[in-house]
Amino acid sequence: MSFHPIEQAPARLNRSELAVPGSQPQLFEKAAQSDADVVFLDLEDAVAPDDKAQARKNIIKALNEMDWGKKTMSVRINGLDTHYMYRDVVDVVEQAGERLDLIMIPKVGTAADVYAVDMLVTQIEDARGYKKRIGFEHIIETALGMQNVTEIAGASKRNESLHFGVADYAASTRARTTIIGGVNPDYSVLTDPLEDGTRAVHWGDMWHYALARMVVAARANGLRPVDGPFGDFSDPDGYRAAAKRAAVLGCEGKWAIHPSQVDLANEVMSPSEAEVTRAKRILEAMAKAATEGKGAVSLDGRLIDYASIRQAEVLVEKAKQIAG
Ligand code: GLV
Ligand code: MG
Repeated sequence: MSFHPIEQAPARLNRSELAVPGSQPQLFEKAAQSDADVVFLDLEDAVAPDDKAQARKNIIKALNEMDWGKKTMSVRINGLDTHYMYRDVVDVVEQAGERLDLIMIPKVGTAADVYAVDMLVTQIEDARGYKKRIGFEHIIETALGMQNVTEIAGASKRNESLHFGVADYAASTRARTTIIGGVNPDYSVLTDPLEDGTRAVHWGDMWHYALARMVVAARANGLRPVDGPFGDFSDPDGYRAAAKRAAVLGCEGKWAIHPSQVDLANEVMSPSEAEVTRAKRILEAMAKAATEGKGAVSLDGRLIDYASIRQAEVLVEKAKQIAG
């Protein structure tokens, strides 16, 4: 390990993160009853300008009066380039800060953006005498945000997670997309012809680089990387495939822009029973190896060593968190 310690964000389940427009309070009850680990009530892009003030009121009322159970509750504020943002923070934190766990900051571009919101939230918390500190989730969804993702990730003690906002990221980078979070057939490789002249097309994942870069910045700063939206909620297979790609790269969760996507996210982002069983066997085998003075042994014909212990511990810990 490096001499530089990485402080981990508070451990929270973040397999599914359900987006709910603050202007549609009729959807709140269903969100509260859902199995989403995190619910974010939106004041930003799902809310029309004329509805912003009412959406704030709906969110404050819902946070104070509804039973959200053990869910982690977040509010997505408007961007720092809008005049809505200061009142989002002031009204929501002043009037509902006790039940609010996280603030989601969209289109964050620089570490100074994080600093500005941190300063505002700190003043409100201190003035109100809140004991609990509200955490931050940042949406990395602009070219600027991606360029500065490392500094953003380390910009505040409140930081808990980074989210890949694929829709705005596509707009910002002028990527050619078809559906939100989907893949584009033009991002593919045409193989050279085989002897019989046939050629195959292999579709690629155009989001790979962005997601991988965000995962590294998040993990290097002890934060949870979370994949963003998949727009076609009538395509569960497409959603599952996107979620699996994110999980393979190290993401802990994915957004659900529709309640039907919550179970899909929870399923993909939870370790399977087989994985947990194997992880436990690895830990047992390595414990036995230690008593025999060995650092590496074989299990089922494969090498395992101290790195396997760390991977297995992460899996077992995650399974415990889910069970709890
Ligand atoms: C989310 O906010 C996105 O732009 O994808
Ligand atoms: Mg966005």
